[in-house]
Amino acid sequence: MSNTIPQRVFSGVQPTGNLHLGNYLGAIKRFVELQDTFDCVYCVVDLHAVTTWQHPVELTSNIREVTAAFIASGIDPEKHIVFNQSQVAAHAELAWIFNCVARMGWLNRMTQFKEKAGKDREKASVGLFAYPTLMAADILVYRATHVPVGEDQKQHLELTRDIAQKFNNDFSDRIAATGCGVPMQVGDETVNGYFPLTEPVIGGPAARVMSLRDGSKKMSKSDPSDLSRIVMTDDADAIAKKFRKAKTDPDALPSETEGLADRPEADNLVGLYAALAGTDKASVLRDFGGAQFGTFKPALADLAVEKIAPIADEMRRLQADPAEIDAILKQGSQRASAIASSVISDVKEIVGFVGARG
Ligand code: AMP
Ligand code: TRP
Repeated sequence: MSNTIPQRVFSGVQPTGNLHLGNYLGAIKRFVELQDTFDCVYCVVDLHAVTTWQHPVELTSNIREVTAAFIASGIDPEKHIVFNQSQVAAHAELAWIFNCVARMGWLNRMTQFKEKAGKDREKASVGLFAYPTLMAADILVYRATHVPVGEDQKQHLELTRDIAQKFNNDFSDRIAATGCGVPMQVGDETVNGYFPLTEPVIGGPAARVMSLRDGSKKMSKSDPSDLSRIVMTDDADAIAKKFRKAKTDPDALPSETEGLADRPEADNLVGLYAALAGTDKASVLRDFGGAQFGTFKPALADLAVEKIAPIADEMRRLQADPAEIDAILKQGSQRASAIASSVISDVKEIVGFVGARG
């Protein structure tokens, strides 16, 4: 699909602690790479965090930690926009409209809700169920065209497109009458729509980083085992220990990527090496094919320390001055609000609310 809405990148990370190598390689590192090509908006999604219980004091510190990780990784908060979601009211406003566009059946199919709610769904918050409509609002309140995320977010991005398409259809006459729409190509048709059908940017060797303890589970902030993940603040000893203890099979590494099929743990470690080195799995196997894990794991640990330690040092330096972080978030929120409030006033006009303009 193509459209004439200017290209813009949006993505978000939840301030829920334990920021790990999957978050960095699957998402934040890619945010950094997109800065040269696109206007980017990067958000600490604190409204999403509170869909599960967050201790207020820890939440505050986790918001600053994610902000520090963005900046320490190389996101430029002067050229691009870095802010926290709760400070731009338009996210919650648009989410409400989208709650009325999306259907229960669509949300009932979301696998992340099923995983996070667990067996006792009656006890999950209403917010956890509505989480994907807020995510659609985050993206579309900037009419963002590209969203870099890890593979686990693919289904939410498909839902975001469904919401955009239904809104464009339901209100097509109003969009035309108010003159807010733009021509966009949907399949073979050119339609006049308001929201773009956003493209996911998912891929590379670390789109789905797995637990170091179990190659069938993704690396996650909430895994009870600390050994399952490398967190950004781990020191060199912790990183070496976690890779040393990482689950593997007894065979040597293959020379070609086909040899990684049915070897999830080996595949994961090779993918991590490739993502850290900025290369692909085939090239890692050209160097390490035939090597035992006893050789490969220390090389991987050294590379991880080389790439992560400077970021962690810079995070610590930034976090020592919370006022500076808060100032960055504040100026980011003001710039984000300027874009989002114009979209929300268009939406109010399109929906037919009185008093939207002027
Ligand atoms: P979250 O911590 O859930 O807010 O995730 C922040 C970003 O990291 C999202 O783009 C996720 O898709 C990405 N992410 C989370 N876990 C992983 C993982 N294990 N591998 C790759 N990307 C991940
Ligand atoms: N749901 C995402 C996650 O858990 C975080 C998120 C919230 C997000 N809003 C977003 C990601 C908008 C991309 C775009 O990882």
